[in-house]
Amino acid sequence: MKKIGIIGLGEYLPKKILTNADLEKMVDTSDEWIITRTGIKERRLAAKNEVTSDMALKAAKQALDNAGLKAADLDLIIVATITGDMPFPAVACILQNALGAKAAVCFDISAACAGFVYAIAVAQQFIARGTYKNALVVGAETLSSITDWQDRNTCVLFGDGAGAVVLSEVKSGGILSTHMGSDGSKAGLLMMPGGGSRNPASKETLEKRMHYLKMQGNEIFKLAVTIMAEAAQVALKKAGLECQDIDLVIPHQANIRIIMAMAKKLKLPKEKIYLNIEKYGNMSSASTATALCEAAKSGRIKKGDIVLLDAFGAGLVWGACVIKW
Ligand code: UT7
Repeated sequence: MKKIGIIGLGEYLPKKILTNADLEKMVDTSDEWIITRTGIKERRLAAKNEVTSDMALKAAKQALDNAGLKAADLDLIIVATITGDMPFPAVACILQNALGAKAAVCFDISAACAGFVYAIAVAQQFIARGTYKNALVVGAETLSSITDWQDRNTCVLFGDGAGAVVLSEVKSGGILSTHMGSDGSKAGLLMMPGGGSRNPASKETLEKRMHYLKMQGNEIFKLAVTIMAEAAQVALKKAGLECQDIDLVIPHQANIRIIMAMAKKLKLPKEKIYLNIEKYGNMSSASTATALCEAAKSGRIKKGDIVLLDAFGAGLVWGACVIKW
């Protein structure tokens, strides 16, 4: 079996910062509530004319440079997103054109906050079978475009950004295991009801604010803790490893209390958990992508380290991936 690993990483965060103090002026909330309940201090927002593919492009270029590859070397591009530039075509195709990656096969994956982990698992399969050689995997989101800025239950949570990796065959280390799971019976807990075939855009869907994401946060919270801990255990078992073998966990950054409760279940000290939620909030598929990039580039991940990606989101969907660096 070929060893498939990450050979390049990149990220992009928009410049505009929205602080908790800014949100206090928009809805009935407080800096104290947001920090203690979520761990978020600020988040980034895309500029007026900045869309998901623009952010994906910046992260992708950085990842390609970091890998020492050219766009022409790519034969696969997968973008994980739930906030594409438009319902179709795929962001991956728009990105392909912007990069000039003419040889690449391109598609998006809709697996919400677990999308980046799903996309890595899919790309790995293609490379392992020899179908493709160099894959660009991007997690990119403009969640601000589907956030209801009048709903304090959700508007304090989300942000925009993009992270990217290049996957290819490596001589040592690489992806040791992946695990994915889904439970569509709980699809109603987190969704955007308007804009699809069930509720196409109309005056009524606009008036009912159906084009914004809706979440039953409390239910999701409880499920996230249990499922993320279980997903980590399954992925580790598949890799023939134990929790204590992990050097760094890159969890989905939805809520610091979810992350710490999951870490407690796995008996992992907080030093082994990478966090960027304080700066960026929940960026769905871009959260794990940017966190992995930052952790690697800042030296938190060293050669030989065992890294666990662990994500959970709307669907419900979840995914974990063990990588030897
Ligand atoms: O990304 C993938 C999936 N998403 C997640 O994993 C998110 C999971 N859920 C969560 O992170 C948490 O459930 C939230 C952060 C969304 C909410 O925290 P919570 O501790 O579950 O709060 P809650 O929903 O039970 O609400 C507690 C109280 C309520 O007031 P009452 O009914 O007790 O009077 C809310 O109305 O907090 C109130 N509240 C707020 N207060 C101030 C809700 N949002 C706010 C707010 N500011 N922004």
